[in-house]
Amino acid sequence: MARMNPNVLVETQGPVGLVTLNRPDALNALSLAMMEALVEALEAFDRDPAIRVIVLAGHEKAFAAGADIGDMAGAGVFEMYERNQFARWMRIKQIRKPIIAAVSGYCLGGGCELAMHCDLIVASESSRFGQPEINIGVMPGAGGTQRLTRAIGKFRAMEMVLTGRFITAHEAWQAGLVTRVVSKEQFLSEALRLAHELATKPPLALKLAKESVLKADETSLSEGLEYERKLFYMLFATSDQKEGMKAFLEKRKPDFTGQ
Ligand code: CAA
Repeated sequence: MARMNPNVLVETQGPVGLVTLNRPDALNALSLAMMEALVEALEAFDRDPAIRVIVLAGHEKAFAAGADIGDMAGAGVFEMYERNQFARWMRIKQIRKPIIAAVSGYCLGGGCELAMHCDLIVASESSRFGQPEINIGVMPGAGGTQRLTRAIGKFRAMEMVLTGRFITAHEAWQAGLVTRVVSKEQFLSEALRLAHELATKPPLALKLAKESVLKADETSLSEGLEYERKLFYMLFATSDQKEGMKAFLEKRKPDFTGQ
């Protein structure tokens, strides 16, 4: 059970679920056991009706310095194939509630790919983002070549993937890889503040809006627009739509219940 795994800490703050990667001595290298615990923790929050938004944090020195190289160094092709480690990443992609990454320090390889699985990224000014797999004889395998290219464009992604160069938090912000940059004292508090802000929004609309934005990576514009329109219509089946619009007309704050 994820809650028992010391490498992944789980706590709740009202409607916000906080998952903290906790292998500071290994710069939060993502071991297979840690990834399993992480996915279980995210799925548990996704199922919990009391939770509306999830924050995924690392430590001040590292969000995560990548997959655990020790887990892979001696593996053969079919050992890697049978291990099927990327199935866990597909489960992260299925999480419906918004996930905010709280990043500080190293955010490399699988760590950068994990941050890119999140929906918003709050980065401390000390963050360093990179895909350095090329330096250990491989290449990104958990979506780095695809999500990074979509986030920052071919030419900057190509440089990061082919040279392994780390970029600073400000470079990442300018390139469109992070949502905002804050001081290193504030990365977690700002991510939590943002999470509590999102938690005041109608939960079903949050989930469908997330789904619709992610759809943009997978479809043509006209298919995406059609998909968006259907999700928009669906929200007229919720009480939160009635409450949101009624509250606006009555000039008061809405009280969203998630129905
Ligand atoms: N896997 C396993 N252990 C790691 C690790 C990783 N990815 N990154 C850091 N560590 C461990 C180090 O081995 C070291 O452990 P010991 O104290 O037991 O020796 C500890 O964390 C601290 O690391 P360093 O002493 O190296 O710290 P540093 O400050 O000198 O350097 C760093 C920091 C530049 C991040 C360096 O640790 C580094 O280059 N790490 C590897 C980064 C990397 O290549 N990531 C990609 C991994 S492959 C991948 O991610 C593929 C995928 O998902 C599909």
